[in-house]
Formats: sequence, structure tokens, C-alpha cells
Amino acid sequence: MAFPEPAAPSESILASWDGSPIRPTVVHIDLGAIRDNFLELRAFAGPAELLPIVKADAYGHGAVPCARVLEAAGARFFGVALTEEGVELRRAGIRSRILVLGGAYGDRYDLLVAEDLTPLVFRREHLEGLATAARAQGKAAVAHLKVDTGMGRIGIAPSEVGAFVDAARTFGVQLEGVATHFANADLADSELTERQIGSMEGVVRTLSSRGLKPRWIHLANSAATVTRPDAHGTLVRPGIMLYGAYPSEAYREKIRLRPALRWSTRITHVKRVPAGTPVSYGARWVAKRPSVIATLPVGYADGYPRCLTNVGQVLVRGRRVPITGTVCMDQCMIDVTDIDEPSVGEEAVLLGPQGEAEIRADELAAWAGTIHYEIFCGIGPRVPRIFVDP
Ligand SMILES: Cc1ncc(COP(=O)(O)O)c(C=O)c1O
Repeated sequence: MAFPEPAAPSESILASWDGSPIRPTVVHIDLGAIRDNFLELRAFAGPAELLPIVKADAYGHGAVPCARVLEAAGARFFGVALTEEGVELRRAGIRSRILVLGGAYGDRYDLLVAEDLTPLVFRREHLEGLATAARAQGKAAVAHLKVDTGMGRIGIAPSEVGAFVDAARTFGVQLEGVATHFANADLADSELTERQIGSMEGVVRTLSSRGLKPRWIHLANSAATVTRPDAHGTLVRPGIMLYGAYPSEAYREKIRLRPALRWSTRITHVKRVPAGTPVSYGARWVAKRPSVIATLPVGYADGYPRCLTNVGQVLVRGRRVPITGTVCMDQCMIDVTDIDEPSVGEEAVLLGPQGEAEIRADELAAWAGTIHYEIFCGIGPRVPRIFVDP
């Protein structure tokens, strides 16, 4: 059987779509809140410089727009995890010093040098790769030394500092900074943090005994920026607080921050169902009463966790309503029986405020058995970010 030829798409129809979102699932990012949070943190940092952490697309908030607004507000440093992230910022015109924190440089030291990205170094091959690339490009090889004082992730042991500094000298790598990372700074039990600070003081003494006084000494994440002035060194590296979230509940009373992210969508379908009606995969929710079920065009492919099945809540008309049944890849359902005549097109908020109500990232994370960092970073690239700067 011959099938009819499909009609060629009309150029004018294709040209009429500028790529703007069709599905109403969006994230709004308040850049003004990010600027205010930066200024608030700066007040805590005292004389120390601030290095905003904008890795993982600024914790899902959009690295380039966030870095632009922070650079305009006075940031002179940025921290990313990957070389790729640093290159993205450079290509967007960010001129501040960018530290690449993650240690996964592959063999692309040439890119680090060409884009003036400063790596954290802690292995001999980092020194060798950086020195070779810098020599080839006629530039200075500049790095920060990463010491592992108790995080157990990356960095040289404090006992290896002397030998590493000697190796850096041999390779001609200039160590203009020294860094460590706290494992527990947000926890009430400060014993490990105390030990890490003590260990870092020892590292700085060792460097000094070798004639090295790095300009940049940095340890502090958000938590330590606010509560540990003794760990400020000369540079602090806040991340989560820039985005208006608290590392843990105890920090809420210590600093006033404004959440920057609001995740919303709109109802695509509403139906009345009799008691006994199953909803979604596996029929894991069954109506106990005659119910009104609405469908939302957002699912786990967007980063809304599947484990919020029968657990999550969203806001409709400023009221909390429950997720009913299994969260699907692109959609999920909510029980709007108690909302008066809900309609297609009405807004539902997954995260953030609506009217007087709010769903906070830490609350949503607790439902999902994770932390808000993961919720933020998990909001997928399929969800358009809309930047506002009121
Ligand atoms: C090396 C390093 N510094 C600073 C931060 C910022 O931490 P926080 O978001 O808790 O402020 C991170 C985040 O994971 C990090 O890995």
C-alpha cells in the first residue's frame, strides 16, 4: 500500500517559533535575590574575598547569568568543578579569576592555560601538565594547592606538602593559593572542622618554612563563611547560600537569604473520577472518594523525583495538594478535589512560593530522602530557566 507523501512543513510556521517554551513547565530565577545574597555573605566574610561557587550550572540556577550578575556586583573570583564549566564562563565574557576545583583535567592543560583557568593541583601530573602547557603558550603556570585535611576526597595529605612544594618549584608552577574543603562545617558537631582548621594552620606554617606565603588561603563553604570567621583565611567559597538556601536548618536564624528559584507548571488536564479509580503506573493510588484529578506536564525526566509518588505536594491557588500515584517521566497527577472548580491552564508550583504558601527546597528534598543541593542540580536542562531581575 502506498502512503501519501507528507506535506513539506511550511517555512513560515517553522519560522514563527522562536524557541520560546511551549510546555508551561519553567523555572524562574530571581537574579536580584542572588545579588542580595552575595552582598549579605560579603558582610559576613569581612576582609576575605568571596569566590562564588557556580559549578553544576550554578546549582541549576544558570551559571552564565548568575556569574554576570555577581561579577557586576563585585565578585572577582568564581569556582567551577570542571574545565568545561570554566570555558563556558570565559566564552560568555566572564573576566574574573576562575578556579577549577574538581581535579579532572584530562590532558587538556592547554585549555586551562589558554582560558586563564586556575586549577587546584595535588598530583605530580597536574604540575607536569600545567608546566608543559604554560611553557608552550609562553605564560606563567599558576595554580592553587589542594590539601586534604579531612574530607577524604581530593588533595595531598598535610604530611606531603613540603615535598609537593619542592616539586612545584622544580616544574616552575607558582602556587598562589592553598585550599582545603570541610566535610562537616554545617553540622552541630564541630570536632572534625576544628581538626581540619588546625591541620590547615599547620600546612600554612609548612609553606611558610619553605618560603611560600600564598596570597589566597581558603577553606570555607557557605556554612563556615557564616559561623567560622577563624576559617575565613583570605578567600571564602560559598555556594548554596548564594541561591538563598541554608546548608542546614540551624543557619536560618544566622543570616537572611532570599530563595532565588521558583519551579512552576500549569494544569494540562482535569477529570472527575468515581471512588475506586486507579491513577498512574502500577495503580499505586486509588481514589477513596469521588475525586478531581489534574495532570501536570512535569516528571522525573525534568528532575521531579519519582520517589515523590504519593508523597510530594504542590501548590495550587496557594494551597497544598498531594501528588497522586506514580510520578511519570514527563507528567504527574495531583488531587485537586478540594479546590473549587480547578481548570486547565491554572498554575501549580512545585518549588517556591505561591500566594502566602511556599514549598521550600529542603522540604521537597526531605520528602525525596535527599538534600536540596541534589534537587536544585537535578532540575533538568529540559526545563527552561527564565531570568528576572526585578
Ligand atoms: C570545593 C568546594 N568549595 C565550596 C563549595 C560550596 O559549598 P556550599 O554550597 O555548601 O557553600 C563546594 C560545594 O560542594 C565545594 O565542592
